[in-house]
Amino acid sequence: PDNRSLTVVVLGASGDLAKKKTYPALFSLFLRDLLPSTTIIYGYARSHIEISDFKKRIAQGLKGNEEKKQEFLNLLHYHSGQYDEKKAYDEFEKLIDAEEQKKASSVAHNRLFYMAIPPSIFIEVSIGIQGSLLSKSGWSRVIVEKPFGRDLTTSRQLANDLGKLFKEKDLFRIDHYLGKEMVQNLMVLRFANAVFEPLWSKSHISSITITFKEDIGTEGRGGYFDQFGIIRDVMQNHLLQVLSLVAMEPPVSLNADDITNEKVKLLRCIQPIKLDEVVLGQYVSDDSGKHPSYTDDDGVPKDSVTPTYAAAVFHINNPRWRGMPFILKCGKALDERKTEVRIQFKRPDNFLFRDEEISRNELVMRIQPGEAVYLKLLTKKPGLENSIEQTELDLSYRHRFENLDLPDAYERLILDAIKGDHNLFVRDDELDVAWQIFTPLLEQIENLKVQPEPYKFGSRGPKSADELSKKFGFVRSLGY
Ligand code: BG6
Repeated sequence: PDNRSLTVVVLGASGDLAKKKTYPALFSLFLRDLLPSTTIIYGYARSHIEISDFKKRIAQGLKGNEEKKQEFLNLLHYHSGQYDEKKAYDEFEKLIDAEEQKKASSVAHNRLFYMAIPPSIFIEVSIGIQGSLLSKSGWSRVIVEKPFGRDLTTSRQLANDLGKLFKEKDLFRIDHYLGKEMVQNLMVLRFANAVFEPLWSKSHISSITITFKEDIGTEGRGGYFDQFGIIRDVMQNHLLQVLSLVAMEPPVSLNADDITNEKVKLLRCIQPIKLDEVVLGQYVSDDSGKHPSYTDDDGVPKDSVTPTYAAAVFHINNPRWRGMPFILKCGKALDERKTEVRIQFKRPDNFLFRDEEISRNELVMRIQPGEAVYLKLLTKKPGLENSIEQTELDLSYRHRFENLDLPDAYERLILDAIKGDHNLFVRDDELDVAWQIFTPLLEQIENLKVQPEPYKFGSRGPKSADELSKKFGFVRSLGY
């Protein structure tokens, strides 16, 4: 039995993130019976919205059993108020307190604050939480999500300001990629299997490519996106997290700090990224004209040079990886939606077969969609012919695991924050190194006003990106 109640306070409850991610994740936890028996969910935002309208809005984002949906909606409360007035937070506190007393007067009340708000108001909202809303009987934890600044200086400023208000142990910085099933699987795959570890280095691998592709454009988010661009939006956080898990040394234990220590160590070995090893692109309308150009999106200046595509080569200066390229690629408005890690092995020392028959072994970890791990192998073509065929050892999750019901990344992360487990969250020094890696490159790109290469909506992206991969030894094989 729970001897503590939980109050989740969603700040920015009327916004898109709350509707699309936060509330649906809370609903899934509710369906799985993973929320404490006394849970109160309070939304806060500036807009005046009737509670019935608010519930309707949230219901749009929920999938599943109608009866359960109603039960969940019954837990919701909403209050509107300003973000920058102490008085407003004090009033809000009275409401939360009254609800907690009503629901469970004799237990301690934990409070989880979810900041689903734009970064421009992170600090004023944090001051509001700090000054008025902290729990007096249980813990108070705060979940925040990027953008954490837009370069090293602004990120340090933010870290400094937040650090004055909350302890690191109470802050949970989300990078939702860490909540994805296949990203968590990376550690198991690497460190629980005898067959991979001996091969996991430049001695046997020729390149590692981490790709993030989306088949949609910025679609109304242009105003936000144009301030950041794809490198800050995806590469600096999601792809770098995947890179660190793929490349780090084994941690001392599975403890959150031990893992993060290894990630930070790895990130510190990344060499400055060279501008001539970077390709930038921006999407333009396709031939049919059905899909708009990036600069057609609301809030994007017509002459914007913000990249919606980026490919960059990373060099890690440590004994395991020195000399072997990591190629990171990400883009919007491409031919498909897919995120994967592709480990391409060196050619075997071949003296038996014709060279052109020997395509490379590849280990592919498909993060989404269609979670899978597969290994490309060469096999004798069955039958009387003596030729070689490329095949796969294929672990496709949908086939292997019956009734697969993978939790959404946010669901996993909110649950971990409730448990106080920092494992899948970003530590302050980790964020700092990430900005140290990207800030010089971003400054160069912006100072030189580097023009992105246009690519058509729905294409594979800028041509130069394929050339970059080729230059760094990546060989395109069948089925790629
Ligand atoms: C977000 C970016 O962090 O990740 C978006 O801001 C991007 O631009 C999104 O679309 C991708 O997340 P997912 O889970 O759909 O791969």
